[in-house]
Amino acid sequence: MHFVEIIRRQDPEAVDRILRTLPAWFSVEEAIVNYVESASLRDSFLAVIQGHVIGVALVIRHFPQSAELSLIAVDANHRGNGVGSALVNAISASLFTDGCKLLQVRTVGPSFEDDAYSESRAFYRRAGFLPLQEFERIDWDGPSLVLVKPLQKPQQMANPKHKSAT
Ligand SMILES: CC(C)(COP(=O)(O)OP(=O)(O)OC[C@H]1O[C@@H](n2cnc3c(N)ncnc32)[C@H](O)[C@@H]1OP(=O)(O)O)[C@@H](O)C(=O)NCCC(=O)NCCS
Repeated sequence: MHFVEIIRRQDPEAVDRILRTLPAWFSVEEAIVNYVESASLRDSFLAVIQGHVIGVALVIRHFPQSAELSLIAVDANHRGNGVGSALVNAISASLFTDGCKLLQVRTVGPSFEDDAYSESRAFYRRAGFLPLQEFERIDWDGPSLVLVKPLQKPQQMANPKHKSAT
């Protein structure tokens, strides 16, 4: 078991590198470039193992009460090991401590059949996000699902796959 550290720091190069390991989700060059640009503007959380960034998440605070997870991605070689959960937990705890009540995320909606985004939605549901509404053409030329997670006082994880520190 490696120690995963969650740190709050911007790293556009890591965003670029990690998104390019995930072509089933990030294949449009313009979209990758936009994410990399926003990585140097947005509040940014990184998952780091032995000094190497393996996961990234960007957060936008729209209102004092609510925020948006505008990007989350884990290097393809490190998916399924609890890293995404560690990022969401750290972000949720940080926002809650700062008085934020709701975290929203948008992803491709279920009425567009796609195995990759079906996995993303499963992750969000498992991370405590609830589906709110599906909208047409708000982010792309198809359906987007809005999910929201009510933020609560952080609890100690009973048996995490990775240890994490914030
Ligand atoms: C989505 C993502 C951030 C999740 O990070 P991760 O480190 O792989 O996820 P975790 O290991 O923390 O998974 C937590 C839970 O989510 C669910 N989950 C994760 N990956 C899943 C998959 N591929 N299929 C179904 N459920 C999945 C599981 O319930 C899992 O818990 P379990 O392993 O105890 O059953 C990561 O897989 C990723 O970067 N995916 C590609 C990009 C993406 O989907 N980004 C978001 C939409 S744009």
